Amino acid sequence: MVPTPLHIKHTMFAQPPHAAKAAGDISSAFVQLGSTAEPLPPRFAALKQSISPRDPAILALAWTRLLAQLERETAEIEREGPNIVPQVDFAAIRANGGRFPDAVAAQIRKRGCVVIRGVVSEEQALGWKEDTKKYIARNRNRLIGFPAQDPQVWEVYWSPAQLAARENPNLNVTTGALNALWWAEEETLVDLERSVTYCDRLRIRKPGDTSFALGEHVDGGSLERWEDDEYRKCYTKILEGDWEAFDMWDATHRVNARMDLYNGAGGCSMFRTFQGWLSLSNAGPGRGTLRLCPLIRETVAYMMMRPLLADLASVSDMAGAWPARVQDLSREYHEHIIRAMVSVPDVRPGDCVFWSCDTVHAVEGVAGGTEDASVFYIPAAPLCELNANYLRKQRDEFEKGRTPPDFPGNHCEALIEERGKPGNLTRLGRTLMGFEHVEISEGMGKGQREAVRRFNVILGLRGA
Ligand SMILES: [Fe+2]
Repeated sequence: MVPTPLHIKHTMFAQPPHAAKAAGDISSAFVQLGSTAEPLPPRFAALKQSISPRDPAILALAWTRLLAQLERETAEIEREGPNIVPQVDFAAIRANGGRFPDAVAAQIRKRGCVVIRGVVSEEQALGWKEDTKKYIARNRNRLIGFPAQDPQVWEVYWSPAQLAARENPNLNVTTGALNALWWAEEETLVDLERSVTYCDRLRIRKPGDTSFALGEHVDGGSLERWEDDEYRKCYTKILEGDWEAFDMWDATHRVNARMDLYNGAGGCSMFRTFQGWLSLSNAGPGRGTLRLCPLIRETVAYMMMRPLLADLASVSDMAGAWPARVQDLSREYHEHIIRAMVSVPDVRPGDCVFWSCDTVHAVEGVAGGTEDASVFYIPAAPLCELNANYLRKQRDEFEKGRTPPDFPGNHCEALIEERGKPGNLTRLGRTLMGFEHVEISEGMGKGQREAVRRFNVILGLRGA
């Protein structure tokens, strides 16, 4: 059952943070796909007061500077179009020891997104798509998706092809390079050199589809960015009116941020440095692909300041943030960001697209062209306590073939015998899924070392 607004209201603080999710599909996460929301309680007006600078002129001036900067940047984005999105060959990452070349890293840090070419071969990606289609066809009576009558996004998490993609060594190098774009203070309990697996769905969007059109949004919670004390610390500079000093790539307060205070289908319990997908198709502008805002500091500053500005400062409205839903952006409140959106450039099967956890993104309204627009959603997530706790629950569900804990509790695959199982994983796959002890080595920093120690304890692994 999809939670109604009434349920949300009355369970706001009553539920443990990781109670089982209600059944549903991807629409459960989006007000714009049919989930409803009701006005927020007055305490959000009080929250705004408590987190805003005492002098309203500070934010007003910061906002003026921000709009001027956005105007300059948007002109460049409009000139460049999709080519503004940084692009790099996977081979260049490999040749650079598993790290992005410096010039590319600088572009990604500015743009918050990247297209990586040839992470796996075209043949491999197309093979995985065919295997997945067959898996769905053979088990069609058990599987559901969105929209119900003709699914484009499937509640499928454990197909053997998804498992193979998640544990692919090149994908692991790629997510490691993405994690390494971040940094954290020495004491922070995170190992940014190591990835863990967050198991997500897949999309096989048919040509001509208009049902899976997603408006502009940001994942990783919504109200939580302002409401959770630790999450809010990521944005201290912005909330002080000094948005130019905001560092998107500082993970220090991300690792303990609570992104899912309302146990919603839209909540992600893991810290993902980047969301992403592996393309299984030839896709591109006009063909049902991803759109995003290729600026990070400016858009986060805009999103965080918007509900605190004079027109909304004394009311509970949080400009598109709703409990248990993703952060929605609208022309009403976020027109400058929406104007700066671009589609990602053409991709081929085997290419990947990644965008930061705070990047505004959307899905094109119409899947034009003649080919399906298909992806496996595979993000980058580092080793940290928060992720270890999720990994333990995800591992338990994986062993039973149940839906991963962040997603609607349909458990469609539990009775599908041919689903991927722990025994199918490679050694790397087992490590990424939290089945294998991680060694502590000499060169590790203090926080990194402690993160690994706790990881082993939480997951009950040898050497803990
Ligand atoms: Fe999203």
